[in-house]
Amino acid sequence: MPLVSGHDVIQHCTARGLVAGAFNTTNIETTMGIIDAVEKVGVPTFIQVAPTNVKLSGYEYVYDMVARRLADTTVPVALHLDHGKSLAAVEAALAADFTSIMIDASEEPLAENTAISATARRMCGASIALEAELGSIGGKEDDVAPEFASTTDPAQVSDFAAAVGCDMLAVSVGNVHGYAPNARIDFDLLERVRAASSVPLVIHGGSGLPEEQLGRLADFGVVKVNVASDLRNAMIRSFGEAYAANPNENSLIRVSLDAVAAISEVVERRIRMLNPSL
Ligand code: 13P
Repeated sequence: MPLVSGHDVIQHCTARGLVAGAFNTTNIETTMGIIDAVEKVGVPTFIQVAPTNVKLSGYEYVYDMVARRLADTTVPVALHLDHGKSLAAVEAALAADFTSIMIDASEEPLAENTAISATARRMCGASIALEAELGSIGGKEDDVAPEFASTTDPAQVSDFAAAVGCDMLAVSVGNVHGYAPNARIDFDLLERVRAASSVPLVIHGGSGLPEEQLGRLADFGVVKVNVASDLRNAMIRSFGEAYAANPNENSLIRVSLDAVAAISEVVERRIRMLNPSL
């Protein structure tokens, strides 16, 4: 099936009471692992890439790779720009036909965040879903960490979401990018954020959160949960184990396909954790 808009993934998931995983890709192995799992589980999903990760290939290449792998699938998948930190990144992803966009101006003061995100809204038009961020999520996304982290202020949520017109809002409620052993969702804060607006919420930093917390997010207006580190770690570990088992291994295809299977297992597990009713 062709790529669908982020709107479609949100609608499908909302209608079925599901939370969409949003899995970061970098390369063909990761893309295959994600799509294999999504096809098996049948839950609409976002595949996403951040500007830091298109260094290997470029937006057009990522689009072609994902669209080609999806050709024989039946589950709605959107291709999303993760952490578009500039309007130039938004422009590049839109030019490559991405179907969902995140603008992340969350480190700017509120007025600038609102203005930049509203500009991204105009650039996306009505057909492309837009995610914005309010409150700055801490931890490292790849090697990039924000200069400061701050939690989302529930008092700002309604006005921000209305002024931007975003379709999804990424919030900072105890979640942290990367493997942060003490990362925990503050459900009291999440509940206050949810009560402030009906905008569907996004939780970043899915790799470090405990299973019990992931399984509760659907009840708090969360529609999308980002997972990246787990997939990267699965691939690096799989290659590392192959090398440790045989330093003379030279079947790159076998080792790569083992990595695809390892990534797929992680993705499937995360989708099931997010949706315990499956
Ligand atoms: P993790 O690396 O903690 O899964 O976070 C990924 C993420 O939020 C990407 O935006």
